[in-house]
Amino acid sequence: MKITFYGHASLGIEVSGKHIIVDPYISANPKASHIDINTLKADYILVTHAHGDHILDVEAIAKRTNAVIVSNAEIAGYYSQKGFQSHPVNHGGSWNFDFGKLKYVNAIHSSSFPDGSYGGNPGGFVIEGEHKNVYIAGDTALTMDMKLISMRTKLDLAILPIGDNFTMDVEDAIIASDFVDCDKILGYHYDTFGYIEIDHEAAIRKFFDKGKDLMLLEIGSSIDL
Ligand code: NI
Ligand code: MN
Repeated sequence: MKITFYGHASLGIEVSGKHIIVDPYISANPKASHIDINTLKADYILVTHAHGDHILDVEAIAKRTNAVIVSNAEIAGYYSQKGFQSHPVNHGGSWNFDFGKLKYVNAIHSSSFPDGSYGGNPGGFVIEGEHKNVYIAGDTALTMDMKLISMRTKLDLAILPIGDNFTMDVEDAIIASDFVDCDKILGYHYDTFGYIEIDHEAAIRKFFDKGKDLMLLEIGSSIDL
């Protein structure tokens, strides 16, 4: 499994020969100006919630690639009404895709589209694929529900928001990593806007002091699991 950071909360995941894009917000992110969305491969686009900083490039990528948009029932319905392929899920539900098993899990946040359309309730994803398991938290507060994830899945990587203001901060993300029982963390949802700028070295040190490895990737770079 290969995971690429495209800035903000945008990810690329390659697993079992399939290409997955998560929450694409790339074309309007000045920090990601070296990423061309027209070159991104996508069999699936996963959407955690309907906020503009998570859906901006969904339609452009889906139109070009014919990718299946996977999200909660309301977001999937919103895109299927526009003629896109979608697969609806909802909290607690799993589906065996050709890339692995995907589960939609709770997030504490909000979820309306920029045009005011109802975006259902926000979530995160647990992906079990190719003997590696990953949790993508989405935009969320720290929540006790995270403890449920480790009761079903032994994670190899937890992808957690750490930028504060709209989501968890670093300290809460450290507790979240305890809740999901995973000491390998990829931080996301930081630095994009003034509200969520963080001190990278301080964040890495705080995780290190708890025996945990926080990775902060350059935009466009990848890790192999
Ligand atoms: Ni959001
Ligand atoms: Mn966000």
